[in-house]
Amino acid sequence: MRVVLLGATRGMGRALARRMAERGDQLFLLGRDPEELQRSAADLAARHPQHAPVGTHACDLASSASFPAALDAAEAALGGFDTVVVTAGLFATQEAMEADTALAEQVLAVDFTGTVIFCEHARKRLLGRGGGTLCVFSSVAGERGRKPVVLYGAAKAGLSRYLEGLDHKFCAQGLKTVCVKPGFVKTGMTAGLKPPPFAGEPEAVAQQVLRAIDGGLPVVYTPSIWRWVMLVIRWLPRFVMRKIGF
Ligand SMILES: NC(=O)c1ccc[n+]([C@@H]2O[C@H](COP(=O)([O-])OP(=O)(O)OC[C@H]3O[C@@H](n4cnc5c(N)ncnc54)[C@H](OP(=O)(O)O)[C@@H]3O)[C@@H](O)[C@H]2O)c1
Repeated sequence: MRVVLLGATRGMGRALARRMAERGDQLFLLGRDPEELQRSAADLAARHPQHAPVGTHACDLASSASFPAALDAAEAALGGFDTVVVTAGLFATQEAMEADTALAEQVLAVDFTGTVIFCEHARKRLLGRGGGTLCVFSSVAGERGRKPVVLYGAAKAGLSRYLEGLDHKFCAQGLKTVCVKPGFVKTGMTAGLKPPPFAGEPEAVAQQVLRAIDGGLPVVYTPSIWRWVMLVIRWLPRFVMRKIGF
């Protein structure tokens, strides 16, 4: 695959980039911090010196003006791409966002508007080449309005719906949309939070997501048990949701 990855500097994106590089996929990394991008590209090059060098370009989800140039650079370096993966995202606790409206605005802008507009640019380019895969990390937080993730969950709910709509509209034209819904995964994003039962590791998530990309699965819960956890949560009546803290 010729893959553009946005968010490979940390966490699940980094684990996925390493796994893709391991099997010989050609990668191009996008991110908001050029130094972090260089470090990540150097890490991949050191692990696989036999592969073509990994290119990078700045791309900030908070600034849609950066998207076209970033995708142009990826197209030029890879000679066209067939897969775009977006793991980049921001998280803040519900308490922090309730106390700081500017922070809430930033998280909503990056996780919803920025991500959706980036995907719009990416899917037009993929469709222009006859199709390809758009794999985007949403969250189980978007499955139901829940007290600990009212704002973050709202952004991810919107993102999941957008990806579902893309799948319905463009699948027949060759666009494979993969919406990844992680539960709690141990990364920098969740550092300092108490891991619940079934907390996942980024490497296991990467393996599962790669299988979903290869198989063209439209939705993947990871770790898999979250599919069943969220099935139960989706069916809980409102009076129960008002009482519980989950
Ligand atoms: N960890 C979990 O439990 C969990 C659960 C559900 C969903 N998710 C979602 O899964 C995805 C990956 O999460 P993770 O845990 O791997 O996160 P992470 O370790 O915090 O990594 C987040 C990545 O997003 C990038 N990023 C943040 N803001 C950006 C911006 N404005 N423009 C471009 N890149 C930006 C970061 O780049 P820098 O290196 O520049 O910081 C980093 O590469 C996210 O979308 C997250 O919302 C995570």
